Amino acid sequence: MSDFPAIIAGGGSLAAFLSANKQAVDAALADAGALLFRGFDVPDPQAFDAVVEGYGEHGFTYEDSLSNAVRTNVTARVFTANEAPPSTEIFLHHEMAQTPLYPSRLFFYCEVAASEGGATPLCRSDRVLERLESEAPDFIARVEAEGVRYTNVMPGTDDAGSGQGRSWKSTLSVDDKSQAEARLRELGYDWEWQDDGSLRATTPVLEAVRTLPDGRRTFFNQLIAAFRGWADSRNDPGKAITFGDGSTMSAEDMAPAIAIADELICDLAWQAGDVALIDNFLVMHGRRPFSGKRRVLASLVA
Ligand code: FE2
Repeated sequence: MSDFPAIIAGGGSLAAFLSANKQAVDAALADAGALLFRGFDVPDPQAFDAVVEGYGEHGFTYEDSLSNAVRTNVTARVFTANEAPPSTEIFLHHEMAQTPLYPSRLFFYCEVAASEGGATPLCRSDRVLERLESEAPDFIARVEAEGVRYTNVMPGTDDAGSGQGRSWKSTLSVDDKSQAEARLRELGYDWEWQDDGSLRATTPVLEAVRTLPDGRRTFFNQLIAAFRGWADSRNDPGKAITFGDGSTMSAEDMAPAIAIADELICDLAWQAGDVALIDNFLVMHGRRPFSGKRRVLASLVA
């Protein structure tokens, strides 16, 4: 799969390149699912902000999202990627597919590449689904028919030591418990307050397989990341996911999806100044552990 991610090498202003070549870029994105712009002049977060502006689509803001990750805004539309510790691997996922609100595309920008590790694994979800349909047909038939539900315990205040550390106030954009309950009710969640002030929330049934406008079908969900990675002082990944009917999804159920996705990963090894554009419905991403300083920023497209 040397075509993935597709590399667009160039120079000069990437913002100008994107606004002049929007249609061709979108066609290439639909084809490959992930594009890497390398060699352009993107020296700092402000230049990255201009790149996103040059692309010219509406943003999907972190404040509006129900993302579990702790992040910090750098400009109005640019924020730090998940601030989980360097040793924490972030497993493959579609951005915010564990919530009813998700972006269609993601921009990533590498300001500082890690001295070791820190690649962004990418995986084509249509290829994962195709393999699962032949290797685990019962599992796919079930998640497609029933959908899936996610359960996550959100702390009372941000816990930057966890990949799932965003507080419930920040996640839900609320100030108190009664506002939180109103928001959860509106979103169709079930919830339970914990003695320590944290909040256990379970999503409504969400889709696990998505059909794209062109007919391609993808394994669009957060099952792998939730099952492998939602572990912290509050969360037990064994309890993070269920089938739509509420029954537990076991390690045996998840094994084929995990193995196939791992097999199909292509690592994006960052160089400073790189920008990647990812179709969030077609491609999963994650983060390899790293050492040294690494700064990868993100911006989401509605
Ligand atoms: Fe992500």
